[in-house]
Amino acid sequence: MDGAVGRTGPLTNTSASHPTAPAGNDFLPGPVLLLGAPGVGKGTQAQLLVTKYGIPQISTGDLLRGNIARGTELGIKAKEIMSAGLLVDDEIVNQMVLHRLQEKDTHRGYILDGYPRTLDQAKFLDRTIADPIFLPRLPVIAISIVVAYDQLLQRITGRRICPSCKHIYNMYSNPPKVAGVCDLDGASLTQRGDDTEPVFVERMKTFDAQTAPVVAHYRNQGRFEEANGDQGVETVNAAIEQAIAKLRHASH
Ligand code: AP5
Repeated sequence: MDGAVGRTGPLTNTSASHPTAPAGNDFLPGPVLLLGAPGVGKGTQAQLLVTKYGIPQISTGDLLRGNIARGTELGIKAKEIMSAGLLVDDEIVNQMVLHRLQEKDTHRGYILDGYPRTLDQAKFLDRTIADPIFLPRLPVIAISIVVAYDQLLQRITGRRICPSCKHIYNMYSNPPKVAGVCDLDGASLTQRGDDTEPVFVERMKTFDAQTAPVVAHYRNQGRFEEANGDQGVETVNAAIEQAIAKLRHASH
C-alpha cells in the first residue's frame, strides 16, 4: 500500500456528495466504476445512483474543478491541462482519490465517476482497495456507458450545470423550465470551460489513447457490463441498476 494514506490537504474538500443511506436498504453496492467517453452520462447517472443507494459520488473532474474554484496550487496547474483536453498527472489524481476513499461515507460503497482514466490509475486503484483497511471489502464492478460519437458533441456543447446543487441540464435534451435557471434552487446555470467543440475533440483523442485501455482492463477482469447510453436517462439508469445488482450478486 502506498505510504500516502492519511495525507491531507486542499485536494478533496469539495465535490462528492455526502448522502445518507436510505433506511432499510441492506444491499451493499460496494465500489462501482462508471466508465465512458466525455458526455456519455457518467455524472447524470452517478447522481441517480447516489439517491438510489445512499453512497457518495466521487468525481475526479469535480474534485479538480473544486481546486480550480478555490485557486489552489493544484487548481492553477490543473486548469491549463483541463482546458487543453489532456489528463492531470496520475500521481496527483491518485492521491486525491486515496484521500477521499478514507472518508467514512465510503464504507458501503461509492460511485467513481471519471476515474480511473489511465492504466496506471486502474492498477493503483486495484492495489489500493485490495488493502483491508478500505471498506467495504468488495471488488470493483465496472460499467461502461457507450454513446455514438455524433451524439456526444451536442451533449457536451448543450450541457449546463447548477453551480449550487450540481444538477446537470442539457439545452437540447433536458432544458430547465426557465432558460438559464436551475429548477431546483433558482441559481444561474453555468457552462464548463472545456465544453467547447475544439476541446471536446482533444478530450476524445485523450479518451481513445489513454482511457479506452482502462475499459479493456476491466472488461478482461470480468465483473464488467456495457450499458447503451443512447437512450433516455431513466432507461439508461434502469439498465445500470440491473447491471449493478447482477454483477454484485455474482461477486459475493
Ligand atoms: P470530467 O469532469 O470527468 O469530464 P468527462 O469524463 O469528460 O465527462 P463529462 O463530465 O464531460 O461527461 P459525463 O459522462 O459525466 O456526462 P454528463 O452526465 O454530464 O473530466 C474533465 C477533465 O478533468 C478531464 O478532461 C481531465 O483533464 C481532468 N480529469 C478528470 N478526471 C481525471 C483523471 N482520473 N485523471 C486525469 N485527469 C482527469 O452528461 C453530458 C450531457 O448529456 C448533459 O448535458 C446531460 O444532461 C446530457 N445527458 C446525459 N444523459 C443523457 C441521455 N441519456 N440522453 C440525452 N442527454 C443526456
